[in-house]
Amino acid sequence: MSLSTIGQILDEGYFANIDFEAQSSWWRELPLEPFEIAGIPIRNRYLLAPMCGVSNLPYRILARAEGAALVSTEMVSSTELAKGRKRSFELMEFLPVEKPVMVQISGTEGDVMLKAALMVQEYGATILNLNCGCPVKKVIKGGSGSAMLRNPEVLRSILQQLRPNLEMPLTVKMRAGWDEQNVNALEVAQMCEDCGVDALMLHPRTRDQFYEGNADWDLIGQVKEAVSIPVIGNGDIFSARDAHEMLEHTRCDGIMIGRHAIGNPWIFRQCILEEIGRPMTSSAFRLPEPFPSPEERRQAILTHFDYFCAYLGQWQALNSLRKQFLIYLKDEPGFDLFRKRLALIRSREDLADAVGCALQPGG
Ligand SMILES: Cc1cc2nc3c(=O)[nH]c(=O)nc-3n(C[C@H](O)[C@H](O)[C@H](O)COP(=O)(O)O)c2cc1C
Repeated sequence: MSLSTIGQILDEGYFANIDFEAQSSWWRELPLEPFEIAGIPIRNRYLLAPMCGVSNLPYRILARAEGAALVSTEMVSSTELAKGRKRSFELMEFLPVEKPVMVQISGTEGDVMLKAALMVQEYGATILNLNCGCPVKKVIKGGSGSAMLRNPEVLRSILQQLRPNLEMPLTVKMRAGWDEQNVNALEVAQMCEDCGVDALMLHPRTRDQFYEGNADWDLIGQVKEAVSIPVIGNGDIFSARDAHEMLEHTRCDGIMIGRHAIGNPWIFRQCILEEIGRPMTSSAFRLPEPFPSPEERRQAILTHFDYFCAYLGQWQALNSLRKQFLIYLKDEPGFDLFRKRLALIRSREDLADAVGCALQPGG
């Protein structure tokens, strides 16, 4: 496939009829603290983390409407993208309304990464991100993801190849280091800055930790001190309060939310409301309530499903979203019943019915 074929799978007609601007207008006009990445304005400090199987086009649109100022695709293999694989194109695909949007690529071979990066640039993404954090065996065994931190010289040579050949902002997302004995985020961050990287995203756990233990927020503060490019902190933000604590504790430029945004696009809204404070909820702006009503949650689940159907079709939507539906509904009275019915859901009607039951008091 070639770049020009992107969008053939997507039902663009469906998306063309949705007023996305109106959906996000509630937060765009608010006096939120912005920052910039290589001159690109990022309207607030709350970003959606790249997540395989989650931060795809349908969910990114929901997150954006709820206030995420920068969204990211999930990781796209540079090798697969450079080969023009359909699946990579699906992963890279975004709608103009998502902008600013970051596309994340992984890989280890400079030439291949450059080819993929140029495709991302030509396709029109706002920011390119290199994955130096993925801990998964399949990814690190080829030397990419967090394995790059074990071999920063490979990363350096990739950056040296990419930087002079790319016009778009170049960013790196990384972990603290490979293991407890090799925490090198500070050195790698400085090396990235020297190589012309425009911003860093740091999840301060080592590869060995996967998701165990706590993210070391102090390390985010140290990296922020050590470089002059924007630093985005990430890891263990489970509420709007956590987001603001990370911002205050580390002085980082922005924060990125991963796991707690799954089935919970409202966390971005909550971060925004926390920033402006409740008194502002009066007449000046028409603001949403921080926590969605059952009806709003029902609508969000169905909208997420509808967007996914228009993105890759109903069969894929049902397969890909089942786990996320469970997370949306995990605190609901009818959760157990919903879980039992989940495997039987075959259509939008089935889904609407099961969600409606799950949200009713008494399940
Ligand atoms: C299901 C899942 C998929 C992920 N996929 C990616 C990915 O494709 N690229 C990436 O850089 N990080 C990925 N991550 C890591 C997150 O971006 C983030 O760094 C991590 O979850 C820590 O943030 P959190 O504590 O807010 O979840 C993934 C995490 C999860 C839970």
